[in-house]
Amino acid sequence: MRSIAITNQKGGVGKTTTTVNLGAALARAGQRVCLIDLDPQANLTIHMGLEPGKAKPSVYELLGGSASLQECLRTVRPNMDLVSAEIDLAGAEVELVGVVGREILLRDALYPAKELFDVLLIDCPPSLGLLTINALSAVREVFIALQPHFLALQGLGKLLETVNLVQRRINADLSITGVLLCLYDSRTALCDEVSKEVARFFKSEHPLKSLWQGSRIFNTPIRRNIRLAEAPGHGQTIFEYSPSCHGAEDYEALAQELLIWWGVRSAEEEPSAEVSQVSDVQASEAVNPDQTQETETIVLGENVEPLAPAEPSVSEVTTVPAEAADLTEDTPEVFPAASSSAQNIEPAEQIPPSEPQHHFQDPETYTDDQSVQG
Ligand SMILES: Nc1ncnc2c1ncn2[C@@H]1O[C@H](COP(=O)(O)OP(=O)(O)O)[C@@H](O)[C@H]1O
Ligand SMILES: [Mg+2]
Repeated sequence: MRSIAITNQKGGVGKTTTTVNLGAALARAGQRVCLIDLDPQANLTIHMGLEPGKAKPSVYELLGGSASLQECLRTVRPNMDLVSAEIDLAGAEVELVGVVGREILLRDALYPAKELFDVLLIDCPPSLGLLTINALSAVREVFIALQPHFLALQGLGKLLETVNLVQRRINADLSITGVLLCLYDSRTALCDEVSKEVARFFKSEHPLKSLWQGSRIFNTPIRRNIRLAEAPGHGQTIFEYSPSCHGAEDYEALAQELLIWWGVRSAEEEPSAEVSQVSDVQASEAVNPDQTQETETIVLGENVEPLAPAEPSVSEVTTVPAEAADLTEDTPEVFPAASSSAQNIEPAEQIPPSEPQHHFQDPETYTDDQSVQG
């Protein structure tokens, strides 16, 4: 089972939209998909057409240990199950602070999922608190959703630092495997420039670079599309609401890109041709000034005919023109937190094993270490 947390502590960057529609595209491709709504705002739950608070037991009971995963699962579409969220979840961060092993409650609760599903997608809340720590402890992969506007990279250092802490202390298998550009507007020069800046950052030397070794900026940016914004109000995925819009095309292409990458399907199979090119941000790659005019692309699978994408693709930003690279010298402070704090990280702690039942405790019993929380 692939287990993926879709994160960014910023709100409004496309996490929930991606969880729903990437999940739906994967389910349509035959993958058994489990969606976990870990945001007290319950946007994912609403987007799937359920009423928060009525779809019980929810992830709140799952974390509290009063319901099992099987009891919380709701089959919302063919091949797609959901663990819903509700407003009570907002209190869980406070209620859980006194619980032993509070960072790994979700990991323990999701243990049966690997027998039931091919893909687990967790929609994280817009914070780096205990709920996000639980998500990061429960998965092996992190996808970062980014909206390419001029503050896109702000705060990313804190997110990387949090992923690093969880990887070092709790979940050694964790890594950042994908960066997804959402709300992409190819008509704006700013969007293009920020996309280049994002690619540049993930290729540059960084103290935490091993966290995203081998990750990729997906070749499929999700274009800004009004249908994607309308679909949640109808409780529908984009494939139900407007199956031929750009939003549906992009999430379908993203799913195909992933399925090829994961080796679930070959690049020759229909309808994968459009997404046969996958850009790569391998840590070892350096920008070669002699090749600045070329697009750097890795083609997965053999005998693949690379097709030109209809819109400017993110693969084009993985090679940085020399003059553009100079811009980074003007913006060295974009990620101040990650490098400095990383040096202050304490040696790995032993996380005590969790108890079978983790009923919430009085927050007043909370005493110690919140250091792993952002
Ligand atoms: N590609 C897109 N085009 C247009 N609107 C989008 C797109 N992606 C998300 N939205 C809308 O933007 C808002 C924020 O998206 P959402 O997925 O809820 O972000 P997050 O979960 O990161 O807070 C929502 O109203 C959503 O419908
Ligand atoms: Mg959301």
